[in-house]
Amino acid sequence: MDPLQWAIDPWGKVVPIHIAWFLIWVAAIAGLLFFFVHATYLRYFAKPRVFANNDSPLIAVRIPERVPRHSLTARMFHWIMAASMFTLLFTAFLPKLGIQFDWVTYHWIAGTVLTVSILFHIIHASFFLDFWSIWPDRIDLRDASRRILRAMGQSAPPPDRFAKYPLENKLYHGAIIAAGLTSIGTGVFMMFRVRTIFFPRNPYLFGDMTWGMMYVLHGLAGVGLIALIMVHVYFGLRPEKRAITKSMIFGWMSRDFYLEEHDPARWPVKSSKSPARSQDANAEGLTNAG
Ligand code: HEM
Repeated sequence: MDPLQWAIDPWGKVVPIHIAWFLIWVAAIAGLLFFFVHATYLRYFAKPRVFANNDSPLIAVRIPERVPRHSLTARMFHWIMAASMFTLLFTAFLPKLGIQFDWVTYHWIAGTVLTVSILFHIIHASFFLDFWSIWPDRIDLRDASRRILRAMGQSAPPPDRFAKYPLENKLYHGAIIAAGLTSIGTGVFMMFRVRTIFFPRNPYLFGDMTWGMMYVLHGLAGVGLIALIMVHVYFGLRPEKRAITKSMIFGWMSRDFYLEEHDPARWPVKSSKSPARSQDANAEGLTNAG
């Protein structure tokens, strides 16, 4: 089973032209297998989570009832990106599964929305949000080994609670960056192969081998995104993650959830006697928004 499709160019050279479309099923089945294995592990084998917690009672009192987590701008970016991602996945893969329609136009329009939204996100996250909050730090790595040892029944101190993002979310973000930027980088060049409003069509920009590799990379990133997005939606719907999903809709999470899973020393929130005022500040991006 060859994972690539090949053709012979006008000079008789064999060049790749696409990925083989059975990889769509490989990615979808990998996503489903992940659900099954993860849900079974949590239901029957995982031990209850324990975190180190040395908070003084004074800390809890100073945390607002609604802890601001995502500013309105960050939430709008997330949902625009999600809509464009789903549009890209459906327009790309439904025709390959036999549902025919004029997909290319919808696809490059959604691709343009994704590209612009990601450019915006890079600037927003670099200059207006806490840039380092999404990258693993030393405590994450130390706690990952503590969590693995404890899961295997060995003795290790309990891990600290998370900073703004758990290590798993940070690793997922890294995988999305790799697949997302690959699909964007190749997709922008592939727009030269079709008619768009941005530049004249020029299929001779690259040779057949380079175009072929570009289509293959684009396809591999695309099928990778099928599995990645399935996993993301699965976690978003899991009951114990619902507080995080709700925060991507409403912008805040409850004080109880914050204190249970997040360490105020690693992810400080502005203390406030008035939760309403603290939320307003968040909407303006004034407190720890991200
Ligand atoms: C979730 C992200 C994306 C997925 C899953 C995806 C998937 C695909 C797939 C499977 C193809 C067919 C490739 C082939 O025939 O070998 C394709 C083609 C294409 N994609 Fe994407 N893509 C994504 C993002 C983008 C982006 C961001 C852009 C533009 C910036 C873009 C522009 C294009 C163009 C122009 C084509 C070529 C159509 C043609 O030559 O007929 N794609 N995409």
